[in-house]
Amino acid sequence: MNSLCKAVIVASTLSVASAASAVAGPVEDRKELMKSVVKSVKIAVPMAKGEVPFDATAAAAAMQTISGVPDKFVMLFPAGSDKHEKTEASPKIWTNMKDFMAKADDLKAAIEKTKTAAGEGEGAFKTAVFGSLVKTCKACHDAYRIKKN
Ligand code: HEC
Repeated sequence: MNSLCKAVIVASTLSVASAASAVAGPVEDRKELMKSVVKSVKIAVPMAKGEVPFDATAAAAAMQTISGVPDKFVMLFPAGSDKHEKTEASPKIWTNMKDFMAKADDLKAAIEKTKTAAGEGEGAFKTAVFGSLVKTCKACHDAYRIKKN
């Protein structure tokens, strides 16, 4: 292979790599994970409120879908990513990482509890959604999310 050819290949590889990093990164990934959580919460809350008929299978499935999220989420906070222009993450995360991770564990426990409660009936499910699940969102956001809009 001649050197011009090599240069073309190197250049095109580089531009692919930089295009990819412009659209995806830990900040985008952690926002996507939060959006996936919202999707499941939007299935759970109307059922818990009685606005849509309680469906134990769908309720449990909504929780199952996000059961892996908290563990993945906490891995997406590399140092310096509080400086990203689009992030709402508070710099306090990095000075209180242990507490931040504990709050993610609370979410994980609440998701499990809500999933189990779905199998126990509408009353148990409602208690888990309002008594645990949505409280864990607020607890972490109040401490570690700076809402920009
Ligand atoms: C362990 C802490 C923690 C928990 C628990 C948590 N969040 Fe978040 N959430 C965050 C942080 C930090 C951000 C900001 C991320 C960023 O902008 O980089 C965020 C952002 C969001 C966003 C905005 C996403 C975007 O597109 O910018 C939504 C919506 C959201 N969370 C919903 C929820 C819901 C619903 C729950 C509960 C079921 C929840 N979160 C639980 C920490 C948490």
